[in-house]
Amino acid sequence: MTENEQLLYKRPVKWDYGIGIVGAGGIVNGAHLPAYRKAGLNVAAICDINDEAAEQTAGRWGVTDHYSDFRALLERDDIQIIDIAIPNEGRIDIVKQAVAAGKHILIQKPFAHRYEQAVEMVQAAKKAGVRLAVNQNARFAPFYAMVKRIIDSGELGEIYLLTHEMRINQDANMGETWFSKIPHFLIIDYEIHHIDLMRYWSGQTPVKVYASVTKMAGQNFESEMTALTTMEFASGLRASLIAVDTQQADDNFFRFTVEGSKGSLYGHIGNNYSSPSIEYTTKDHPGERIRPAMEGSWFPDAFYGTMFELMNSINEQREASISGEDNIHTLRLLHGVIESIETQSLVYL
Ligand SMILES: NC(=O)c1ccc[n+]([C@@H]2O[C@H](COP(=O)([O-])OP(=O)(O)OC[C@H]3O[C@@H](n4cnc5c(N)ncnc54)[C@H](O)[C@@H]3O)[C@@H](O)[C@H]2O)c1
Repeated sequence: MTENEQLLYKRPVKWDYGIGIVGAGGIVNGAHLPAYRKAGLNVAAICDINDEAAEQTAGRWGVTDHYSDFRALLERDDIQIIDIAIPNEGRIDIVKQAVAAGKHILIQKPFAHRYEQAVEMVQAAKKAGVRLAVNQNARFAPFYAMVKRIIDSGELGEIYLLTHEMRINQDANMGETWFSKIPHFLIIDYEIHHIDLMRYWSGQTPVKVYASVTKMAGQNFESEMTALTTMEFASGLRASLIAVDTQQADDNFFRFTVEGSKGSLYGHIGNNYSSPSIEYTTKDHPGERIRPAMEGSWFPDAFYGTMFELMNSINEQREASISGEDNIHTLRLLHGVIESIETQSLVYL
């Protein structure tokens, strides 16, 4: 078996770009660097304002150089891609300076907490003539990518209903962190994946959204951690999201359904993203339950998936499917959800 066959996503024609990572925290150690190691990518240096985090991460993953100031990455000609994985604060400054230095960008979701900041970053990248992609990695999780392939194949006919449910217990188990104080954290940080998936799966953006939220008695996060969201699309398609991050049992799961004029799909993912399964039935195959085989896992395969897509967009001189420009529509939807929570009303987008 060749190395390419072991990878879930096909290696880009040119893939030896020098990568400079900004942020040496949980997601970089847990997903970015394991993914880049698996794909044999060229991580030239890493930067974190916490020097110890940068040094430890560089040591752990065999990255030769580490810095505490991101500008050190921009000065290096052997770095062409800046991979940003820090919280919202400080992102816009890094992006503006990086694109002005001619670097391409991969930036973690959520792209920006404020819609105007996202627009500013997209415009800066455009002006500099570089590619900016948002690390909306759920699109590259094997099971979510499979749903997209099945919908696009037409086997389910015309799609009229999408549902997604997330049931996790982070809030029940976690104390004070930077994100325990962020208003609407559940929506901004978690639901952003599912909100974006509704756009990705359907290829459409909703025109109306309504969200209703609640808090569990005694919960320690400032954000509501339980949310119900309904989306309406101009085509007649409807989407429904349930997100529960306060449940007390240890049986985390995700599940989703797709209803189409020719078939129905059901998907389930178990504890810690284990045992993903998808099955569907169609009028074209009466009596048959189709269970597509799936390889790979969200962590880490989706994380070289997004980086490969950025590299492909650079190689092919086109916008990435996960471009900042595309993500602006996801952010507008995200802000619509937040507006609906705050005004307790239906929001027209
Ligand atoms: N599935 C996913 O895609 C996924 C999962 C987890 C986190 N994330 C996202 O990744 C981002 C980082 O999350 P995390 O969990 O790794 O956070 P974290 O707190 O574990 O790590 C963030 C790191 O960034 C560093 N940092 C902050 N500002 C900096 C700056 N200006 N320059 C350099 N370094 C800086 C911090 O010192 C810290 O080490 C967030 O946007 C989060 O939403 C995505």
